[in-house]
Amino acid sequence: VGARGRDAVVNNPKGDLSRRLQHLAISADGNGRWAEQRGLPRSAGHEHSQKAFRSVLESCVEFEIPYLSLHVFSSENWARPGEEVSYIIDLFTRVLSSVVEPFREIGVRFRWSGSTASVPEGLIELLRSVEEQTADNSALTLQFCLNYGGRSEIVDAVRRLTRDVSEGAVDMAKVDETTFRKYLYCPDIPDVDLFVRPAGEFRLSNFLLWQLAYAELVFTEELWPDFNRETVASAIHEFIGRRRKFGLIE
Ligand code: IPE
Ligand code: MG
Repeated sequence: VGARGRDAVVNNPKGDLSRRLQHLAISADGNGRWAEQRGLPRSAGHEHSQKAFRSVLESCVEFEIPYLSLHVFSSENWARPGEEVSYIIDLFTRVLSSVVEPFREIGVRFRWSGSTASVPEGLIELLRSVEEQTADNSALTLQFCLNYGGRSEIVDAVRRLTRDVSEGAVDMAKVDETTFRKYLYCPDIPDVDLFVRPAGEFRLSNFLLWQLAYAELVFTEELWPDFNRETVASAIHEFIGRRRKFGLIE
């Protein structure tokens, strides 16, 4: 995206850009590399990502994007060295312990998507409590994907759907995509319109597999801790230049 195009979005954030952009999803990746590039321990990258977090939330509100999904910890991340996993879990606990007030100021409604398996009880309680305490905020819904995996979400949905079918609450012959969707972690959050993949990687990494079906994909070299208003504006600018067809001819 050229600097001129990006400036156009930055200078006119409420132009035509947000009308069609309901849901932005970002894989929060590159924290380790951000730190390594500076000769710092990986934890410094995780720490610095708080700045990106705040800036991206505020930008979504400014650009009138009602839904933001962030993949902050995948179900595969448990396989990292124990020390790093503990650091990240402690960081989530620390950050979530003081987000209610800033979320109220910015207007963020918090939702957690992910499996409870392996997540410490205290963190689960905190996630639930932030969901409850921010339930009335309405500028932006943040889907916080922690211990999240797209395939697990689908398998969890199949399990719950199968249970409802066996109990007679759902007629298997009538199950369609709309029925299935109701069993996802946050069924009321619409499909993703724009997925931004940072850190020079070109993969989905098991993020929102069902919801990304028709998403526009944007890849950037930028690392998650460096994300800011400009990054969001650039991605939006690229998005509005795309022609979405949803399988139709025009
Ligand atoms: C993403 O950054 C943060 C988490 C997975 C929690 P990484 O830690 O994956 O950073 P890189 O990919 O090693 O640079
Ligand atoms: Mg990574």
